[in-house]
Amino acid sequence: MTDFLTLAEDIAREAGDMLLAKRPSNPEVVQTKSSPTDVVTALDRASEELIRARVRQARPEDMILGEEGGDTPGTSGVRWVVDPIDGTVNFLYGLPEWAVSIAVEVDGEIVAGVVNVAPRGELFSASLGGGAVLHKDGLALSRLRCNSGVPLGQALVATGFGYDATRRAVQGSVVSAVLPAVRDIRRGGSCAIDLCSVAAGRVDAYYERGINYWDYAAAGLIAREAGARLGGLNGKGPGSEFTLCAAQGLFEELHDLLVPLGPERDS
Ligand code: IPD
Repeated sequence: MTDFLTLAEDIAREAGDMLLAKRPSNPEVVQTKSSPTDVVTALDRASEELIRARVRQARPEDMILGEEGGDTPGTSGVRWVVDPIDGTVNFLYGLPEWAVSIAVEVDGEIVAGVVNVAPRGELFSASLGGGAVLHKDGLALSRLRCNSGVPLGQALVATGFGYDATRRAVQGSVVSAVLPAVRDIRRGGSCAIDLCSVAAGRVDAYYERGINYWDYAAAGLIAREAGARLGGLNGKGPGSEFTLCAAQGLFEELHDLLVPLGPERDS
């Protein structure tokens, strides 16, 4: 487990350093995906290529799932789940809220997760059962614990929006119902950082419709290891339908506010 975590940390650091060094003042969009606002830069691809090359060098039999390169098969039972830049729109605009996210699964269970917020010099990591840690400028700074006992009306809640216009219209109506019921809303632009922020007590909760596995695989473990509950609506798991994360108690209050709003629908 420690070996996976150390390797994932080393690779996430190398990718983050490469991105910081190579980010031009005006990154080029090389592709759009689900909609014209869902962009890929050359450095999303370069980051994923670097991560894939390092994983292959160290563990040639492992599977890799990456946002840009899809699935690579393997025979070891170990799978690396990679988001080479989570928060690509922030990266494009020069905002410092983007991260390299790497999770390691063994036989389908996530055992290690690393989120390297390179522009801030912060790296979040966790191993299954081993707790979650924040490293600042390379030094392990603190063990993470999410906020607990926060009532809904006092909660600072992070959320995010998809790239599809119809879905966004629903997300807008949901957020307009949540906003009057909580302390405030934050939209940082990176699901992985939002979940790490729950882990670090920088926000109290996070919810979003329609995120991908690579967005939350690593940060979901970090949040859980910091004591937060990660799930979906009505007893379902987290994922593309809906994801909610907060300490128990607030999780339930926010869940019960959200369910009648039908936040998992698309029209
Ligand atoms: C996006 C970010 C964003 C979230 C979107 C994701 P990407 O990932 O995590 O915060 O709201 O749903 O798609 O495209 O930057 O890797």
